[in-house]
Amino acid sequence: MSFANRQILLAARPVGMIKPTDFRSVETPVPVPGDGQYLVRNIYLSLDPTIRGWMNEEDTYLPAIKIGEVMRGAGIGVVEQSSNPAYNVGDLVFGLIGWQDYFLGGGNDAMPMMVLPPGIPLTAALSIYGVTGMTAYFGLLDLGQPKAGETVVVSGAAGAVGSITGQIAKLKGCRAIGLAGTDAKCRWVTEDLGFDACINYKTEDMARRLKETCPKGIDVYFDNVGGEILDIVLTQINLRARIVLCGAISMYNATEFPPGPKHYVNLIGKRARMEGFIITDYLPRFAEAMGELGPWVAQGKLKYAIDQVDGLENAPTAINRLFTGANTGKLIVKISDEPA
Ligand SMILES: NC(=O)c1ccc[n+]([C@@H]2O[C@H](COP(=O)([O-])OP(=O)(O)OC[C@H]3O[C@@H](n4cnc5c(N)ncnc54)[C@H](OP(=O)(O)O)[C@@H]3O)[C@@H](O)[C@H]2O)c1
Repeated sequence: MSFANRQILLAARPVGMIKPTDFRSVETPVPVPGDGQYLVRNIYLSLDPTIRGWMNEEDTYLPAIKIGEVMRGAGIGVVEQSSNPAYNVGDLVFGLIGWQDYFLGGGNDAMPMMVLPPGIPLTAALSIYGVTGMTAYFGLLDLGQPKAGETVVVSGAAGAVGSITGQIAKLKGCRAIGLAGTDAKCRWVTEDLGFDACINYKTEDMARRLKETCPKGIDVYFDNVGGEILDIVLTQINLRARIVLCGAISMYNATEFPPGPKHYVNLIGKRARMEGFIITDYLPRFAEAMGELGPWVAQGKLKYAIDQVDGLENAPTAINRLFTGANTGKLIVKISDEPA
């Protein structure tokens, strides 16, 4: 066991892409839990596009991270010491562990740690059974309301959320068309995950290829990227289409926001709906999603991929994999070993 707690702090607010100089590393003593507190050894850190928004000056759905504060991040760890009856030594927990080796819980935690049920692989708890899987499930089914036979288009299709969304669309009897940034990602999405088609938005003529792959038009668009791609999709939506605004990663590093989608006007003629959501609103319904996702995974009908980088010290560079498109599936950082 280490006697130092490595912590990565926010040193500067990024302008454009995140740079190593936006962070500062420090070592502090491993905290000792006081009355009502517990100490978590962090194992896996989840790297999510939303972190980029938390690094800006303005608050989002959570307060902005302050300069000099430990970087906020969700993840999984194991309770190593506890003076809190709700957490036992050996419990595996999920929550906002931060970019550090150890998390001290039981003070004024923004969000209480969730004790994981036994028997779930930890990487699955961070992906398919975590925020990622829940986002795909409720975003698609609650907001997208796909019906069998309809056409669902998913951007960021080889990413954590997108790769699961398209598979759920297929399981619900829809046609699933992915949009991704490399031919290799497109092959994975169609050949391994079973999407009906995938368009490389960087090299192909998107408007023409959408017409070819969605000959009956688009009923549901699950948008992870926003920007130009959203605008093109809006030209091909069907009557009463549902546009699910999950994310807009193409804009997260923008220093100036691009003009809004020109073709939003099609929402009027098509009586279509465009709606955003934040997955934490669905926390009380996570068990419902588990009831359907669990059996699909167990039966081999739903796959998930993990993109793992080793070492907390690599988190500041690894996060840019999300913005360069280097990741396939859920991006995580391994901080320490899982308990034997
Ligand atoms: N609403 C919610 O509650 C909620 C919850 C979780 C996630 N999200 C959102 O869901 C989206 C996906 O998140 P994730 O965790 O699954 O990340 P991810 O898709 O695994 O990773 C991001 C991917 O986005 C693509 N990308 C990056 N820059 C792009 C650009 N300029 N234009 C088009 N594509 C670009 C890259 O793939 P390519 O190689 O294909 O470009 C990259 O691999 C994000 O927008 C995130 O903010 C929302």
